[in-house]
Amino acid sequence: MKISIRNLEKRLSMILPLAEAYQRSYNKLSADYKSAEEMALYTRGYFIKKLWKMAEDKQSLVAVLHTNDTPRGFIRYSAVPEYYTRPVDNEAADVEKGYLDGFEFAWCRKVNFDRDVALNDKTLIVNQIYLDPQIQHHGLGTLLFQQTVPELKKQGFESLIIEYNANNTGAKDFYRKLGFVPFAKTKDFDHILRQNGQTVFCISDVHIAHTTIDNALECLHRRRQLKQTFLTVFDQRKHGKTY
Ligand SMILES: CC(C)(COP(=O)(O)OP(=O)(O)OC[C@H]1O[C@@H](n2cnc3c(N)ncnc32)[C@H](O)[C@@H]1OP(=O)(O)O)[C@@H](O)C(=O)NCCC(=O)NCCS
Repeated sequence: MKISIRNLEKRLSMILPLAEAYQRSYNKLSADYKSAEEMALYTRGYFIKKLWKMAEDKQSLVAVLHTNDTPRGFIRYSAVPEYYTRPVDNEAADVEKGYLDGFEFAWCRKVNFDRDVALNDKTLIVNQIYLDPQIQHHGLGTLLFQQTVPELKKQGFESLIIEYNANNTGAKDFYRKLGFVPFAKTKDFDHILRQNGQTVFCISDVHIAHTTIDNALECLHRRRQLKQTFLTVFDQRKHGKTY
């Protein structure tokens, strides 16, 4: 199998198959703990729009994993939200405003820190990592980190944080093996539903974990190397680099 990792590009030939893999991955993961009404909002169009926006966002790095030249999963890194970097009494907060599911909303997002962790402009947040269910548990999630974290170090970043749904024990185990240690909790405001004439707010518990990039690199070195026939990694400027 040929495996390659490339930057996300704003073209349908990459975004459409990736949206399908993202949707399959999200559905498999969330169907157990989200209601059928909420899951119905996660349409193919939802994932296409989300990836399109990511491709337009110049502030984040999205590395797309391909098997035999077909996009099958991705990881996205962005700058850590500024309010995370200045907690007061172990709490940081920000007001999110916008339109969601046809409603105008304002949501005060609070982050409660269990311990002190130094977050700054050398910290990145892993916003998403998703792989098509058919290729999960073969070391490819680890490979996405292995091939992107050294590049982040070269660019001067020093630490990473990751947010994951408290129900996602698989992700928790995966991140722990990469050196991430939980340090804070928050809640995400996911959707607004109308059910039986009532407005229902879909809110999920989220845990946040941290690692230094050096610690992640050490953990990644310890993980077994994936055997593959060919691997190409593209850097942020889209110039290829072959390993
Ligand atoms: C999480 C994810 C990216 C991991 O990638 P992966 O290729 O499946 O993981 P790897 O094969 O590299 O696994 C590395 C380790 O993580 C652990 N792990 C990964 N997924 C796990 C799961 N669902 N349950 C339990 N452990 C898991 C394994 O223990 C594995 O260690 P091992 O090789 O010693 O057995 C992938 O499974 C996925 O896309 N899951 C669904 C989406 C998701 O949960 N994303 C995270 C949202 S925050």
